[in-house]
Amino acid sequence: MFFKIPEYIQSIEPYKPGKPIDELAREYGIQHAIKLASNENPLGPSPKAVQAIGFALSNLHRYPDGRGHDLTVKLSSRLGFPPDHFVLGNGSDDLIGMLTRALLQPGDEALIPTPSFLMYEIDVRSVGAIPVRVPLRPSLEICADDLLERVSSRTRMIFICNPNNPTGTVISRNIFKMFLKNLQPGIVVVVDEAYMEFVRDPDCASSMEFIHGDRPVVSLRTFSKAYGLAGLRIGYGVMAPELAGILHRIRQPFNTSLLAQAGAVAALEDEAFLNKTVQTVHEGLDYLYTELKRLGVRYFPTQANFFLIDAGRNADNVFEDMLKKGVIVRSMISYGYPEYIRVNTGVPAENKRLIETLEQVL
Ligand SMILES: Cc1ncc(COP(=O)(O)O)c(C=O)c1O
Repeated sequence: MFFKIPEYIQSIEPYKPGKPIDELAREYGIQHAIKLASNENPLGPSPKAVQAIGFALSNLHRYPDGRGHDLTVKLSSRLGFPPDHFVLGNGSDDLIGMLTRALLQPGDEALIPTPSFLMYEIDVRSVGAIPVRVPLRPSLEICADDLLERVSSRTRMIFICNPNNPTGTVISRNIFKMFLKNLQPGIVVVVDEAYMEFVRDPDCASSMEFIHGDRPVVSLRTFSKAYGLAGLRIGYGVMAPELAGILHRIRQPFNTSLLAQAGAVAALEDEAFLNKTVQTVHEGLDYLYTELKRLGVRYFPTQANFFLIDAGRNADNVFEDMLKKGVIVRSMISYGYPEYIRVNTGVPAENKRLIETLEQVL
């Protein structure tokens, strides 16, 4: 069959998600596997969200409110921005796609600290624009000066993942403030805060503080991590209303489902669940750090719910060895770290199993 695909689409490496538990059962016949590979919430979904979704089911014959009125109003009163500053997405992935489509033309450049979340590069390439990779510092941190140095007359947007996936490092408020000050006007800075709820570092920048500033800043948040709704697919962006208006023009008319909107409204109200999640993650991290120290395994402390471990040998092999023992982690080879794996925290029993399995495999 003949059809023509643009060169820039052909250059895209497909996104490789963490291995689903069901696939492990199908392929290896392994039961009772645990997945610590996709930074999901180990406690499950917010029970209030599940209940609200149950109530919403009887309206499934209706289209949802395209703008997600109730959720937008709730976010607006929570975060203190008027409703016209919000755009909802089918996960924050959807917003990354909308932003690249809205802001980039073929040949434009987007700066991407590397390694970072792989969808930035995929979405930039999808519209024929050029991803400009800016390597992280040896400390695994994003360097604001390096980003500023790579700005060219073709730069239209800059991604900053804060905390950064996969390194768990954050950019501090002072550095972010200086970065914006020194950045030429008109370049949109997209700050992906998918893991912000887990941050313990008081110096970490919060991009929402800069939405009203004179440089265009977009804050992206998701319900997939701390709120436990990854399977529901809902996230949002906060930005100047001029830019939000553009995204509303190009988004799918019903890009977030009826169930996703209902679930997210309820999840926002479920503060007890959010607090329990954050506490579970922090306790899990502290436990894992202690155990890894005991084993003499090098790791990189994080501000998120995942972190990097230096396995000291080929990460794909370590991934495979752990997989066979029913523990799904993520090899970091495709992120440019040939010997690192990334794990997220689980519930205490999962964390214990992770350590026992690592001890056997390493
Ligand atoms: C940094 C980062 N941004 C965005 C996403 C996508 O989140 P969502 O489920 O909201 O599309 C992820 C998911 O792993 C992520 O790690």
